[in-house]
Amino acid sequence: MAVPPIVASIAALRARLAAERRNGARIGFVPTMGALHDGHLSLVRETQNRADKVVVSIFVNPTQFAPHEDFDRYPRTLEADAEKLAAAGGTDLIFAPSVAEMYPQGFATKIDVGGPSHGLETDFRPHFFSGVATVVAKLLLAVMPEVATFGEKDYQQLLVVRRMAADLGLATEIFGAPIVRETDGLAMSSRNAYLQPDDRRVAGQLNVVLKRVIAALHNGEPILAAEAEGKRALLEAGFASVDYVAVRHATTLAPLDSLHHPARVLAAAKVGNTRLIDNMAV
Ligand code: PAJ
Repeated sequence: MAVPPIVASIAALRARLAAERRNGARIGFVPTMGALHDGHLSLVRETQNRADKVVVSIFVNPTQFAPHEDFDRYPRTLEADAEKLAAAGGTDLIFAPSVAEMYPQGFATKIDVGGPSHGLETDFRPHFFSGVATVVAKLLLAVMPEVATFGEKDYQQLLVVRRMAADLGLATEIFGAPIVRETDGLAMSSRNAYLQPDDRRVAGQLNVVLKRVIAALHNGEPILAAEAEGKRALLEAGFASVDYVAVRHATTLAPLDSLHHPARVLAAAKVGNTRLIDNMAV
């Protein structure tokens, strides 16, 4: 299959999409930072089911990385990504802007979402969601899609984007797609490429421990005890540190005293220098 056209400017993107809209096309959108894997490709398929034309953006967004984080070494593989999208089918246009295109000289706007941004990732990456919200708002305004798909892999991010889209009255439906996993259950992630073989084995335990936490909760274990036991089990499995294992309300991420509401267990832990996140419905 031919590689989809790649545009780098917002003006070129808008011109192409205006032509599609004149033909009555419903536009779907999948924002990514590239280094594409089957998780990203599943978002393209989910979007194809809900739209006539699918735009995929590939942009490593500097404002969501802290100075000590991996912005410089984050994999940038545009050519291979375009080929993966071509082989998988379903992508009609790739938007791959430069940093200068997204953040022109003098850029001074930031979107801060409250609600689901509080706690969890924000406790460890305080800059993160304002960077995500700002770039996602810009991307949504550039593409103006009818539907945009985000993975449940980044569950808090999905809720933050939903909140922002509702609060700003954006005309885009935010769709959440299920997590795609490796055969041992490790959630696919571009950062898994950093894992050395020993770390990769440890990483495979994250989802196993989350399943055990869920089983304990279903057996009546109190939430605090199940969270603490999950943390202990991750350290025992070889994780270097555990940022959180938390059972939260599935739509607000508010802490829960009991399982009387739809709940989600979320975790973040480091194996070697690589920080992994995962989550599951309780
Ligand atoms: P990135 O990490 O590239 O992820 C792009 C999208 O793919 C996100 O919606 C993410 O949740 C989804 N995704 C990643 N791994 C997945 C998996 N194993 N299964 C299902 N979906 C998966 O998330 C970002 O980029 C950025 O923060 C972005 C939203 C593009 C803003 O810069």
